[in-house]
Amino acid sequence: MVKQQKKKAIIIGTSSGIGRALALRLSGEGYVVGLTGRDPEKLKTLQSELAGESFTRQIDLRDPREAIHSLNNLIMQLHGLDLLVVNAGVLFRNEELDWRKEEETAKVNVLGFMVMADTAVNYFLKSGAGTLVGISSVAGHRGSGRSPAYNASKAFMINYMEGLRQKLFGTRIKVVDIRPGFVDTAMIRGNKGLFGVVTAERAAADIYRAIRKGKRIAYVPGWWGLFMWFAKRIPEWIYHSGYRRYLAWDKKARAAGQSPNGTSRMPCGS
Ligand SMILES: NC(=O)c1ccc[n+]([C@@H]2O[C@H](COP(=O)([O-])OP(=O)(O)OC[C@H]3O[C@@H](n4cnc5c(N)ncnc54)[C@H](OP(=O)(O)O)[C@@H]3O)[C@@H](O)[C@H]2O)c1
Repeated sequence: MVKQQKKKAIIIGTSSGIGRALALRLSGEGYVVGLTGRDPEKLKTLQSELAGESFTRQIDLRDPREAIHSLNNLIMQLHGLDLLVVNAGVLFRNEELDWRKEEETAKVNVLGFMVMADTAVNYFLKSGAGTLVGISSVAGHRGSGRSPAYNASKAFMINYMEGLRQKLFGTRIKVVDIRPGFVDTAMIRGNKGLFGVVTAERAAADIYRAIRKGKRIAYVPGWWGLFMWFAKRIPEWIYHSGYRRYLAWDKKARAAGQSPNGTSRMPCGS
């Protein structure tokens, strides 16, 4: 009997949250996993928790050339690649429009995503098949006055992946756009007014199912698809008015000390 070769997956951004949970899930499902992140210690800790074989590599998406080089090296180390998940992302509360926060968001969520996606697709074109997964967000469907760059970066990802699917039509390369709602990770933890929050493990299970089923687009959990179908169609003036009310409520709640003074990360799309 021919021994079946193990599938190989790399996840960009595995030190915490969804990426970490997905690494555990893929390893449990028998994948050889490439773990990437900025902190080598966190990667080593995660590696020790995995059921199967894994490799680690430091990748900081703020340096795209170095990130491409590192991803190519990791693919060589794994002796191939079947699945790349571009999960890394940052979210800043930025009402004051500090350009440095917008710059970091563009570097990580836009440029970083694009160079990782392109590197994998070019590899898959040579190898003949593969799956690219991008973790976008429901936030990509509407603008946000509080985190303008974050929502715009997710809209970029959604559009870019649609373009890749068009380009790759007729090949054995799949592009899966995962659009989570609220997931209980450091990115949104401590924020008020969230609804339908799921655990990172539940999100990882849904993402794995979408990959296995070969979906093009998957909302996590699935009901967000219906919710966003309506949300996308709400006229701008109604959307803005509801959003302003939420911001006023949130400001009051924070002034009353109920919510942390978020200067950095905060809820996706809200
Ligand atoms: N949580 C939600 O509600 C939610 C909803 C929709 C979409 N998403 C998306 O899901 C993805 C994962 O987020 P999460 O919720 O799991 O949040 P998280 O726990 O904060 O994870 C963010 C990940 O991005 C990595 N990262 C940040 N800056 C990086 C950089 N410069 N270079 C390389 N990696 C970097 C982090 O690694 P380090 O530890 O090295 O910084 C970490 O692995 C993000 O793309 C996010 O936009 C999240």
